[in-house]
Amino acid sequence: MKVKSWSNVLLFSAALASGGLLALPVTAFAMCGHGGEHGCRGATATDALTADDMERGRQRAAQECARCHGADGNASEATIPSLAGQKSAYLLTQLQNFRADRRHNRLMTPVAQALAEQDAAPLAAYFSVQTLKLRPGSGASAPGLVEAGRALYEEGDASRHLPACSHCHDTGPGHGPRERFPLLGGQPAAYVVSQLKQFQARERQAMPPMMTRIAARLDENDMQAVAAFIAARPQR
Ligand code: HEC
Ligand code: HEC
Repeated sequence: MKVKSWSNVLLFSAALASGGLLALPVTAFAMCGHGGEHGCRGATATDALTADDMERGRQRAAQECARCHGADGNASEATIPSLAGQKSAYLLTQLQNFRADRRHNRLMTPVAQALAEQDAAPLAAYFSVQTLKLRPGSGASAPGLVEAGRALYEEGDASRHLPACSHCHDTGPGHGPRERFPLLGGQPAAYVVSQLKQFQARERQAMPPMMTRIAARLDENDMQAVAAFIAARPQR
């Protein structure tokens, strides 16, 4: 399969969160054209995120991101995702997607387009090591709705060829390290529903396009239910 390199190589440092070490090797990988779940990582350690980079990330976050996402990556608006505790490679991929117009938002697109190239990796690393907080009221949905969402999230629905969301979105035993698969727990329901609708309408594009296929099989009730379950889940 032909490998399509991205214009910019994405950097990530998966071990930052657990190790607390700052000068870790950062692996570079290129996006590929095939549909394999794990993307295609041509790993070469080329760079390192230093303590200075982390401090740069913290400062840029305070200046450029805090007013919407919170200084520590905990947003309060229902339409704005929290970045705290999210995988840094996923955050970088999304900044690239906004820049390349694979994903659009009237607030976020201009920010991503104005972002200096060298600030992206430090910002992603900084937010990835912050602690996610559940938002007030996130557990307020009707129990029946949350249970329907849990079933869909954890078990999927074979009759509709829907895989369990947990298969890709959770970490732990049986879930491999998929650096570009986002953690979802704690994101507000309104944001989750809006993203599922954008995937369904193909307004939000991703490579590989697994979410487009999954969202196409979800109806309004599924989206509301799974979003209510996700919002109340402190999983990161
Ligand atoms: C003016 C408000 C605003 C500012 C400032 C802002 N963002 Fe955002 N950001 C948003 C909104 C709104 C979204 C959700 C967009 C959507 O619905 O697709 C978002 C989404 C994101 C996402 C995608 C998260 C996900 O879960 O997919 C990333 C990454 C991100 N922002 C990073 C940043 C960074 C880094 C900064 C600072 C350089 C920043 N944002 C500044 C409003 C903002
Ligand atoms: C086969 C793997 C896979 C499965 C199964 C899966 N997803 Fe995803 N999901 C992804 C990937 C990969 C992305 C990141 C797409 C991108 O880069 O924009 C994603 C992104 C998302 C996002 C956007 C998160 C954000 O912060 O913006 C939501 C919401 C989501 N998925 C919900 C679900 C739900 C609900 C289910 C179950 C019904 C599900 N996913 C099942 C792979 C999967």
